[in-house]
Amino acid sequence: MKICVLPGDGIGPEITAEALRVLQALALPCELNEALLGGCAVDATGDPYPPETQRLAQEADAVLLGAVGGPQWDGLPRAQRPEQGLLAIRKQLGLFANLRPAILYSELANASTLKSEVVAGLDILIVRELTGDIYFGQPRGIELRDVDGRQERFAFNTMHYCESEIRRILRVAFEAARRRSGRLCSVDKMNVLETTQLWREVAIETAADYPDVELSHMLVDNAAMQLVRNPKQFDVIVTGNMFGDILSDQAAMLTGSIGMLPSASLDADGKGLYEPCHGSAPDIAGQGVANPLATILSVAMMLRYTFAQQDAALRIERAVKSVLAKGYRTADIYEPGMQQLGTRAMGDAVLAALQVD
Ligand code: IPM
Ligand code: MG
Repeated sequence: MKICVLPGDGIGPEITAEALRVLQALALPCELNEALLGGCAVDATGDPYPPETQRLAQEADAVLLGAVGGPQWDGLPRAQRPEQGLLAIRKQLGLFANLRPAILYSELANASTLKSEVVAGLDILIVRELTGDIYFGQPRGIELRDVDGRQERFAFNTMHYCESEIRRILRVAFEAARRRSGRLCSVDKMNVLETTQLWREVAIETAADYPDVELSHMLVDNAAMQLVRNPKQFDVIVTGNMFGDILSDQAAMLTGSIGMLPSASLDADGKGLYEPCHGSAPDIAGQGVANPLATILSVAMMLRYTFAQQDAALRIERAVKSVLAKGYRTADIYEPGMQQLGTRAMGDAVLAALQVD
């Protein structure tokens, strides 16, 4: 198991350290190589995804990422922003399939801002296309142009998808739906955008290979509304890069605790990048209070999807559930009556739970 570890910025190093302690406690044979990505890489080399990191990431079977970004890099030109490192590694490694589960742990039922009957038992999976769409479409730019006889700043991006890109992400989503409840909702904006008209056509064609999965379609604005009105109507949602970015944040927050949610970004052969859904939280970086559970759960996803170590993945997930059941909480999920822990102590609690399992 060759793993490239990219702690990144903000709380990234703190939460990654706990996730690695959990991984090492499982005593699986693994080789870890740490490298720079994001703002820390910009500071050290001027490049958010430096060549040495590229080499280690390409040689690895899996990448574990903390988080990238922070306000200190806000003024930089786009090419040097930390986020470009994340976009570049996704593109270079061909990580087109982004799996973002939104699960409401019963122990955290009160964390959601929605009524508990609306979200109790919530368990949905967003499958987001990750290497195409308006994120990567050319041409793009910002320049001075002649508009009605005067010079103005003019900015443009291009949204495009080819059918093979759409088909491969739909297949991932149909397979996931098949393993779950057998229901898949494809989200588009086919009433306005040609790209998503093609998306819907390809979704309907692909459905012919999955007669056991019930496919439905929803326009993205309605999907945003339905996610807060009645999120439990969904099981697996599949959508493009831009809509998936937005809907996955929304779905994550239905659980009230973005600090709990892991994610996987997979290529066609099972190689993957695993990271928590939350960001680098610069406001609490270095204080030892961040919630490491999403990163620990990302290690579980890594063991399951890249290394086919289902038992080890389940052990980690059981350990996380058991620390929640014991009443241990980091600040982001704290409720009165519970026991508040910092990042390291939460890591210790998960390690202790692993030992007794
Ligand atoms: C995400 C993030 C990234 C994205 C940013 C940091 C580039 O919001 O992973 O959802 O937009 O994909
Ligand atoms: Mg996002």
